Amino acid sequence: MPLTPLKAAFILALHALSTLSSPVPKPDPLSIPPLIPTIPGITDPLASLAPPLPILKVPTPPIASPPFTASSLKPKKLGYFWTGPFNQAYADFLAVYSLDDDTFGTFITLVDVPTSGNEPHHLNVSKDRKTLVGTGLLSLLKTQDVEYFFDVSDPYSPKFRNSGRALLSSIGDEIVAKPEPEGGFFITHMGSAGGTDLGRLTEWDRAGNLIGEWPAVTDLASTKNILADQFTPHGLNANFEKNIILTSDFVVPLSTLKPTTGIIKANTLRLWDINKRSIISTITIPNGGGIQDVKFIPGNPDTAAIATAVHLGQVWIIYPFKYNPDGSQGVAELLYDLGPKAKDVTAIYTDLSADGRFLYLSLTTANHVAALDISDLNNVKRLDNPDEAQPIIGPHSLRVTPDQKHLVALGYFVQEGDIGVLNTVGDYKVHYIDILPNGALHFNRTIPFLTEFANRGGARPHFSVIADFTDPADPKWNSY
Ligand SMILES: *[C@@H]1O[C@H](CO)[C@@H](O)[C@H](O)[C@H]1NC(C)=O
Ligand SMILES: *[C@@H]1O[C@H](CO)[C@@H](O)[C@H](O)[C@H]1NC(C)=O
Repeated sequence: MPLTPLKAAFILALHALSTLSSPVPKPDPLSIPPLIPTIPGITDPLASLAPPLPILKVPTPPIASPPFTASSLKPKKLGYFWTGPFNQAYADFLAVYSLDDDTFGTFITLVDVPTSGNEPHHLNVSKDRKTLVGTGLLSLLKTQDVEYFFDVSDPYSPKFRNSGRALLSSIGDEIVAKPEPEGGFFITHMGSAGGTDLGRLTEWDRAGNLIGEWPAVTDLASTKNILADQFTPHGLNANFEKNIILTSDFVVPLSTLKPTTGIIKANTLRLWDINKRSIISTITIPNGGGIQDVKFIPGNPDTAAIATAVHLGQVWIIYPFKYNPDGSQGVAELLYDLGPKAKDVTAIYTDLSADGRFLYLSLTTANHVAALDISDLNNVKRLDNPDEAQPIIGPHSLRVTPDQKHLVALGYFVQEGDIGVLNTVGDYKVHYIDILPNGALHFNRTIPFLTEFANRGGARPHFSVIADFTDPADPKWNSY
């Protein structure tokens, strides 16, 4: 039963007042940023943009996963999948599977988080390989924590460790691990605390404590920047050597929930100075219609990045150290048009081979994964046949395996259900696609989460992390 706005406001206020009421134990107290100071001309527009509340759900405690037997297998290759059950009364969970050839698709174990209905979103691993963190896209609808941290120091037996949330922002998205010795994470939050425009780039320490939400409200120049154009950061990539971050603005999350007059999409990226935690410039892809993803091309001499424009069905290239005629930093140029079938496909996510030669793109509602050879940026070669019907439905998350021999594509994007307008069809499978020597894809093995987790209505894997212990002296996680 939907809550009345008054009740919803009351629950939200109650929740905000007592962080201690969170059902999730926190190992360390949350580092709470200072209250927003009054800055004439800055906080006034912020206040006028204050969010209307979304329809909240009652934060009922989850039902634990039905009993299961963990496997005693110790595969060399493991897939971790951050997953939501179809029956959302059950806890969201991290599932672990063997990706070894001889035991492929064997269930190893799973770990529940102490909440449900988060709509599990992205997943990444810390640089010291001891922590996984998964984000919740819709945790705010149950006023629950958004970041879920798992201890993977024993990779065969991960444990839920703690959770956290930010104060100004919500809607957890892409995660980048910060380098050692500091460790920790940067995580994009696409929306404000109420799910409207004005998200933040959040920062977390290695223990899972919130360090900051950027830009800081006291950073006048950056705050003016985010007030000028929609700031709904989803895509995130960092080049720590060059001291820059790129975030890409996708959609206003609340505009995907009913009632809505249509999804509000962005055409922008932000270029950041990491040391200052401030925005250098806004980079625009005209008529881009949701810039879902941005990633630096490994080894590119110009520190170039690719960005996906969902309305246009195009890949753009971003040169962060080139200047536009108006003097602004960061030049965007069209790299490749993926053709008519790639336009308005709701989502285009990417991954690159570690050598920067191959770019893979999931065209969600086109049920297609495109492959480009980008070794020569002036002569991009398409490796897939855009007209071929591929055996995949609703692909989103992509992950090239550490050995560079497979692409893990997950057949699920987002289903908000009755409350929203974002409901893409999926096959709810982990696709373990072979990468051929020329970079092209060969669909082969799958793990079907609909039947694997039938005891809770099936399950929807949103994102993966892949570990490879083939060389015990040099364990590899993902491609870095
Ligand atoms: C995860 O973190 C690593 C290390 O910072 C980064 O290279 C990568 O782009 C991040 N995101 C994903 C999806 O792996
Ligand atoms: C396809 O999967 C089989 C195992 O089912 C594996 O032996 C084979 O090498 C895979 N094909 C390619 C092209 O990698």
